[in-house]
Amino acid sequence: MKILILGARGQLGNDCSLIFSPDHRVMAADLPETDITDQAGVNCVFDDFRPDAVINCAAFTRVDACETETGMCWAVNARAPAYLARAAARHHAFLVHVSTDYVFDGRRPVPESYRETHEPSPVSEYGRSKLAGERAVADNAQKYAIVRTAWLYGACGGNFLKTMLRLAVGDPGKTLRVVNDQFGSATWSYRLACQIQKILDKGCTGILHATSQGWGTWYDLARFFLTQMEVDFNLVPCTTEEYPTPALRPANSILDNERLRQEGIDVMENWETDVAQFAARHKKQLLKEARAGFASV
Ligand SMILES: NC(=O)c1ccc[n+]([C@@H]2O[C@H](COP(=O)([O-])OP(=O)(O)OC[C@H]3O[C@@H](n4cnc5c(N)ncnc54)[C@H](OP(=O)(O)O)[C@@H]3O)[C@@H](O)[C@H]2O)c1
Repeated sequence: MKILILGARGQLGNDCSLIFSPDHRVMAADLPETDITDQAGVNCVFDDFRPDAVINCAAFTRVDACETETGMCWAVNARAPAYLARAAARHHAFLVHVSTDYVFDGRRPVPESYRETHEPSPVSEYGRSKLAGERAVADNAQKYAIVRTAWLYGACGGNFLKTMLRLAVGDPGKTLRVVNDQFGSATWSYRLACQIQKILDKGCTGILHATSQGWGTWYDLARFFLTQMEVDFNLVPCTTEEYPTPALRPANSILDNERLRQEGIDVMENWETDVAQFAARHKKQLLKEARAGFASV
Protein backbone atom coordinates (compact mmCIF):
# COMPACT_ATOMS: atom_id res chain seq x y z
CA MET A 1 0.00 0.00 0.00
CA LYS A 2 1.15 3.60 -0.63
CA ILE A 3 0.72 5.63 2.54
CA LEU A 4 1.10 9.40 2.79
CA ILE A 5 1.93 10.59 6.32
CA LEU A 6 1.46 14.30 6.98
CA GLY A 7 3.11 16.03 9.94
CA ALA A 8 5.73 13.28 9.73
CA ARG A 9 8.33 15.08 11.86
CA GLY A 10 5.96 15.48 14.82
CA GLN A 11 5.55 12.99 17.65
CA LEU A 12 2.87 10.80 16.10
CA GLY A 13 3.94 11.33 12.49
CA ASN A 14 7.43 10.11 13.28
CA ASP A 15 6.14 6.96 15.00
CA CYS A 16 3.68 6.30 12.15
CA SER A 17 6.58 6.49 9.69
CA LEU A 18 8.51 3.95 11.82
CA ILE A 19 5.55 1.58 12.09
CA PHE A 20 4.41 1.67 8.46
CA SER A 21 7.73 1.90 6.60
CA PRO A 22 8.76 -1.78 6.82
CA ASP A 23 5.61 -3.07 5.08
CA HIS A 24 4.44 -0.19 2.91
CA ARG A 25 5.64 2.47 0.53
CA VAL A 26 5.58 5.53 2.78
CA MET A 27 5.84 9.18 1.85
CA ALA A 28 6.68 11.14 5.00
CA ALA A 29 5.73 14.79 4.47
CA ASP A 30 5.98 17.84 6.72
CA LEU A 31 6.75 21.54 6.73
CA PRO A 32 8.46 23.29 5.06
CA GLU A 33 8.28 21.10 1.91
CA THR A 34 4.62 20.16 2.36
CA ASP A 35 2.25 22.72 3.85
CA ILE A 36 -1.24 21.31 4.30
CA THR A 37 -2.74 24.81 4.26
CA ASP A 38 -1.64 25.19 0.63
CA GLN A 39 -4.46 23.51 -1.29
CA ALA A 40 -2.69 23.52 -4.65
CA GLY A 41 0.45 22.09 -3.03
CA VAL A 42 -1.61 19.38 -1.32
CA ASN A 43 -3.19 18.42 -4.65
CA CYS A 44 0.25 18.14 -6.29
CA VAL A 45 1.49 15.82 -3.52
CA PHE A 46 -1.57 13.60 -3.98
CA ASP A 47 -1.33 13.60 -7.78
CA ASP A 48 2.39 12.74 -7.70
CA PHE A 49 2.27 10.03 -5.03
CA ARG A 50 -1.29 8.72 -5.57
CA PRO A 51 -1.69 7.30 -2.04
CA ASP A 52 -3.97 4.45 -1.07
CA ALA A 53 -4.13 5.80 2.47
CA VAL A 54 -3.33 9.09 4.16
CA ILE A 55 -2.59 9.66 7.85
CA ASN A 56 -2.95 13.28 8.88
CA CYS A 57 -0.82 13.88 11.98
CA ALA A 58 -0.17 17.53 11.04
CA ALA A 59 -1.77 20.08 13.34
CA PHE A 60 -1.22 23.35 15.15
CA THR A 61 -0.89 21.72 18.58
CA ARG A 62 0.24 24.61 20.81
CA VAL A 63 -3.02 24.92 22.71
CA ASP A 64 -2.28 28.28 24.36
CA ALA A 65 -0.86 29.83 21.18
CA CYS A 66 -4.10 28.89 19.38
CA GLU A 67 -5.89 31.51 21.50
CA THR A 68 -3.92 34.34 19.87
CA GLU A 69 -2.62 32.82 16.59
CA THR A 70 -6.17 32.05 15.54
CA GLY A 71 -5.59 32.53 11.80
CA MET A 72 -2.91 29.84 11.67
CA CYS A 73 -4.79 27.62 14.14
CA TRP A 74 -7.93 27.54 11.96
CA ALA A 75 -6.00 27.27 8.70
CA VAL A 76 -4.11 24.15 9.85
CA ASN A 77 -6.66 22.46 12.12
CA ALA A 78 -9.95 23.29 10.42
CA ARG A 79 -9.52 24.28 6.74
CA ALA A 80 -6.58 22.09 5.70
CA PRO A 81 -8.38 18.84 6.68
CA ALA A 82 -11.03 19.73 4.07
CA TYR A 83 -8.30 20.00 1.38
CA LEU A 84 -6.91 16.62 2.45
CA ALA A 85 -10.35 15.03 2.54
CA ARG A 86 -11.21 16.25 -0.97
CA ALA A 87 -7.87 15.16 -2.39
CA ALA A 88 -8.18 11.76 -0.69
CA ALA A 89 -11.71 11.35 -2.11
CA ARG A 90 -10.45 12.15 -5.63
CA HIS A 91 -7.87 9.35 -5.28
CA HIS A 92 -10.26 6.95 -3.47
CA ALA A 93 -7.75 6.95 -0.62
CA PHE A 94 -8.63 6.12 2.98
CA LEU A 95 -8.04 9.13 5.26
CA VAL A 96 -7.08 8.72 8.91
CA HIS A 97 -7.43 12.11 10.57
CA VAL A 98 -6.17 12.56 14.13
CA SER A 99 -8.16 14.64 16.58
CA THR A 100 -8.31 15.38 20.27
CA ASP A 101 -9.96 14.92 23.67
CA TYR A 102 -10.16 18.73 23.80
CA VAL A 103 -13.30 18.65 21.63
CA PHE A 104 -15.12 17.95 24.94
CA ASP A 105 -15.84 20.49 27.67
CA GLY A 106 -14.81 18.15 30.48
CA ARG A 107 -17.87 18.74 32.64
CA ARG A 108 -18.63 15.04 33.19
CA PRO A 109 -17.76 14.01 36.75
CA VAL A 110 -14.51 12.02 37.08
CA PRO A 111 -14.13 9.08 36.41
CA GLU A 112 -16.98 9.11 33.88
CA SER A 113 -15.53 8.96 30.39
CA TYR A 114 -16.47 10.33 26.98
CA ARG A 115 -17.62 7.87 24.34
CA GLU A 116 -17.67 8.52 20.59
CA THR A 117 -21.41 9.22 20.81
CA HIS A 118 -21.09 12.05 23.35
CA GLU A 119 -21.72 15.53 22.00
CA PRO A 120 -18.52 17.62 21.68
CA SER A 121 -18.50 21.09 23.20
CA PRO A 122 -14.97 22.53 23.08
CA VAL A 123 -13.86 25.29 25.45
CA SER A 124 -10.73 26.52 23.58
CA GLU A 125 -9.80 27.77 20.10
CA TYR A 126 -7.70 24.63 19.68
CA GLY A 127 -10.68 22.41 20.55
CA ARG A 128 -13.08 24.38 18.36
CA SER A 129 -10.68 24.35 15.39
CA LYS A 130 -10.05 20.60 15.75
CA LEU A 131 -13.80 19.92 15.91
CA ALA A 132 -14.27 21.98 12.74
CA GLY A 133 -11.49 19.85 11.17
CA GLU A 134 -13.34 16.66 12.11
CA ARG A 135 -16.51 18.00 10.49
CA ALA A 136 -14.62 19.04 7.36
CA VAL A 137 -13.29 15.49 7.05
CA ALA A 138 -16.73 13.95 7.59
CA ASP A 139 -18.26 16.28 5.00
CA ASN A 140 -15.63 15.86 2.29
CA ALA A 141 -13.93 12.47 2.59
CA GLN A 142 -15.16 9.29 0.96
CA LYS A 143 -13.61 6.76 3.38
CA TYR A 144 -12.28 8.09 6.65
CA ALA A 145 -11.52 7.41 10.30
CA ILE A 146 -11.30 10.24 12.82
CA VAL A 147 -9.07 9.08 15.66
CA ARG A 148 -9.37 11.11 18.86
CA THR A 149 -6.46 10.80 21.24
CA ALA A 150 -5.14 12.67 24.30
CA TRP A 151 -2.08 13.94 26.17
CA LEU A 152 0.39 12.59 23.60
CA TYR A 153 4.06 12.04 24.32
CA GLY A 154 6.75 10.43 22.20
CA ALA A 155 10.46 10.28 21.55
CA CYS A 156 10.42 12.83 18.75
CA GLY A 157 9.39 16.45 19.36
CA GLY A 158 8.38 18.35 22.47
CA ASN A 159 5.87 17.31 25.12
CA PHE A 160 4.91 17.69 28.78
CA LEU A 161 7.09 14.80 29.96
CA LYS A 162 10.19 16.22 28.30
CA THR A 163 9.49 19.64 29.85
CA MET A 164 9.17 18.09 33.32
CA LEU A 165 12.41 16.18 32.86
CA ARG A 166 14.28 19.26 31.65
CA LEU A 167 13.10 21.27 34.66
CA ALA A 168 13.91 18.48 37.14
CA VAL A 169 17.35 17.83 35.68
CA GLY A 170 18.09 21.56 35.54
CA ASP A 171 17.43 22.16 39.22
CA PRO A 172 16.38 19.08 41.25
CA GLY A 173 15.71 21.20 44.35
CA LYS A 174 13.38 23.62 42.63
CA THR A 175 9.69 23.27 43.48
CA LEU A 176 7.65 22.41 40.39
CA ARG A 177 3.92 23.07 40.71
CA VAL A 178 1.86 20.72 38.56
CA VAL A 179 -1.90 20.76 37.97
CA ASN A 180 -3.68 18.04 39.89
CA ASP A 181 -7.34 18.67 39.00
CA GLN A 182 -7.36 17.94 35.26
CA PHE A 183 -7.90 14.25 34.47
CA GLY A 184 -6.99 12.41 31.29
CA SER A 185 -5.11 9.47 29.82
CA ALA A 186 -1.54 10.11 28.72
CA THR A 187 -0.97 8.29 25.43
CA TRP A 188 2.32 7.13 23.87
CA SER A 189 2.53 8.13 20.21
CA TYR A 190 4.25 4.82 19.41
CA ARG A 191 1.30 2.84 20.83
CA LEU A 192 -1.15 5.08 18.97
CA ALA A 193 0.73 4.46 15.71
CA CYS A 194 0.30 0.69 16.32
CA GLN A 195 -3.42 1.34 16.93
CA ILE A 196 -3.74 3.31 13.70
CA GLN A 197 -2.18 0.37 11.86
CA LYS A 198 -4.97 -1.88 13.23
CA ILE A 199 -7.62 0.67 12.24
CA LEU A 200 -6.27 0.84 8.70
CA ASP A 201 -5.90 -2.95 8.44
CA LYS A 202 -9.53 -3.42 9.44
CA GLY A 203 -10.78 -0.40 7.52
CA CYS A 204 -12.77 0.96 10.51
CA THR A 205 -14.59 4.17 9.65
CA GLY A 206 -16.18 7.04 11.55
CA ILE A 207 -15.06 8.44 14.90
CA LEU A 208 -12.88 6.28 17.15
CA HIS A 209 -11.42 7.14 20.55
CA ALA A 210 -7.86 5.86 21.05
CA THR A 211 -6.18 6.66 24.36
CA SER A 212 -4.33 4.65 26.98
CA GLN A 213 -6.35 2.69 29.54
CA GLY A 214 -6.73 4.22 33.00
CA TRP A 215 -6.46 7.88 33.87
CA GLY A 216 -4.68 10.35 36.13
CA THR A 217 -3.80 14.02 36.51
CA TRP A 218 -0.84 15.93 35.08
CA TYR A 219 0.68 15.72 38.56
CA ASP A 220 0.25 11.90 38.65
CA LEU A 221 1.82 11.69 35.21
CA ALA A 222 4.84 13.88 36.03
CA ARG A 223 5.50 12.03 39.30
CA PHE A 224 5.27 8.61 37.73
CA PHE A 225 7.48 9.52 34.79
CA LEU A 226 10.22 11.24 36.81
CA THR A 227 10.30 8.26 39.18
CA GLN A 228 10.77 5.96 36.18
CA MET A 229 13.56 8.23 34.94
CA GLU A 230 15.31 7.89 38.34
CA VAL A 231 15.99 11.61 38.68
CA ASP A 232 15.53 13.77 41.79
CA PHE A 233 12.54 16.07 41.74
CA ASN A 234 10.40 18.24 43.96
CA LEU A 235 6.81 18.26 42.68
CA VAL A 236 3.93 20.01 44.40
CA PRO A 237 0.30 19.54 43.27
CA CYS A 238 -1.69 22.66 42.45
CA THR A 239 -5.12 23.56 41.07
CA THR A 240 -5.96 24.89 37.62
CA GLU A 241 -6.93 28.14 39.33
CA GLU A 242 -3.43 28.42 40.82
CA TYR A 243 -1.83 27.76 37.40
CA PRO A 244 -3.86 29.84 34.91
CA THR A 245 -3.16 29.42 31.19
CA PRO A 246 -4.43 31.43 28.19
CA ALA A 247 -6.56 28.49 26.98
CA LEU A 248 -9.22 26.79 29.09
CA ARG A 249 -8.71 23.05 29.36
CA PRO A 250 -11.32 20.38 30.14
CA ALA A 251 -11.16 19.20 33.76
CA ASN A 252 -12.11 15.70 32.64
CA SER A 253 -11.03 14.49 29.22
CA ILE A 254 -11.02 10.77 29.94
CA LEU A 255 -12.05 8.98 26.73
CA ASP A 256 -13.59 5.52 26.40
CA ASN A 257 -12.24 3.45 23.49
CA GLU A 258 -15.66 1.86 23.07
CA ARG A 259 -15.57 1.51 19.29
CA LEU A 260 -12.10 -0.05 19.27
CA ARG A 261 -13.29 -2.64 21.79
CA GLN A 262 -16.42 -3.35 19.75
CA GLU A 263 -14.26 -3.83 16.64
CA GLY A 264 -11.96 -6.15 18.64
CA ILE A 265 -8.85 -4.14 17.81
CA ASP A 266 -8.08 -2.13 20.98
CA VAL A 267 -4.30 -2.46 21.49
CA MET A 268 -3.97 0.47 23.89
CA GLU A 269 -2.15 -0.32 27.16
CA ASN A 270 -2.51 1.11 30.66
CA TRP A 271 -0.93 4.58 30.78
CA GLU A 272 1.55 3.61 33.51
CA THR A 273 2.72 0.54 31.58
CA ASP A 274 3.42 2.67 28.52
CA VAL A 275 5.09 5.55 30.38
CA ALA A 276 7.38 3.00 32.07
CA GLN A 277 8.20 1.39 28.72
CA PHE A 278 8.77 4.77 27.07
CA ALA A 279 11.14 5.79 29.89
CA ALA A 280 13.02 2.50 29.77
CA ARG A 281 13.36 2.52 25.98
CA HIS A 282 14.44 6.15 25.62
CA LYS A 283 16.07 6.95 28.97
CA LYS A 284 19.55 7.73 27.64
CA GLN A 285 18.32 9.96 24.81
CA LEU A 286 15.76 11.73 27.03
CA LEU A 287 18.36 12.55 29.69
CA LYS A 288 20.84 13.73 27.09
CA GLU A 289 18.22 16.00 25.51
CA ALA A 290 17.08 17.30 28.91
CA ARG A 291 20.65 18.18 29.96
CA ALA A 292 21.39 19.84 26.60
CA GLY A 293 18.11 21.73 26.77
CA PHE A 294 18.88 22.97 30.22
CA ALA A 295 22.39 24.06 29.27
CA SER A 296 21.04 26.16 26.40
CA VAL A 297 18.40 27.96 28.50
N1 LIG B 1 0.17 16.60 21.53
C1 LIG B 1 -0.92 16.24 22.23
O1 LIG B 1 -0.92 16.22 23.48
C2 LIG B 1 -2.18 15.84 21.52
C3 LIG B 1 -3.31 15.51 22.27
C4 LIG B 1 -4.48 15.13 21.60
C5 LIG B 1 -4.51 15.08 20.23
N2 LIG B 1 -3.41 15.43 19.53
C6 LIG B 1 -3.49 15.38 18.05
O2 LIG B 1 -2.63 14.38 17.60
C7 LIG B 1 -2.06 14.73 16.34
C8 LIG B 1 -0.56 14.61 16.39
O3 LIG B 1 -0.07 15.42 17.45
P1 LIG B 1 1.49 15.52 17.77
O4 LIG B 1 1.62 15.72 19.24
O5 LIG B 1 2.24 14.43 17.08
O6 LIG B 1 1.80 16.92 17.07
P2 LIG B 1 3.22 17.63 16.85
O7 LIG B 1 4.30 16.86 17.51
O8 LIG B 1 3.01 19.06 17.19
O9 LIG B 1 3.40 17.45 15.28
C9 LIG B 1 2.61 18.13 14.37
C10 LIG B 1 3.40 18.23 13.11
O10 LIG B 1 2.60 18.93 12.15
C11 LIG B 1 3.43 19.87 11.50
N3 LIG B 1 2.66 20.96 10.93
C12 LIG B 1 2.17 22.06 11.54
N4 LIG B 1 1.57 22.87 10.64
C13 LIG B 1 1.68 22.24 9.44
C14 LIG B 1 1.29 22.57 8.13
N5 LIG B 1 0.68 23.72 7.85
N6 LIG B 1 1.56 21.70 7.13
C15 LIG B 1 2.20 20.55 7.38
N7 LIG B 1 2.62 20.18 8.61
C16 LIG B 1 2.35 21.02 9.62
C17 LIG B 1 4.35 20.35 12.62
O11 LIG B 1 5.46 21.04 12.08
P3 LIG B 1 6.16 22.19 12.99
O12 LIG B 1 6.64 21.50 14.23
O13 LIG B 1 7.25 22.68 12.09
O14 LIG B 1 5.09 23.20 13.27
C18 LIG B 1 4.70 19.03 13.27
O15 LIG B 1 5.76 18.38 12.62
C19 LIG B 1 -2.59 16.13 16.03
O16 LIG B 1 -3.74 16.03 15.23
C20 LIG B 1 -3.01 16.66 17.40
O17 LIG B 1 -4.04 17.63 17.29
C21 LIG B 1 -2.24 15.79 20.12
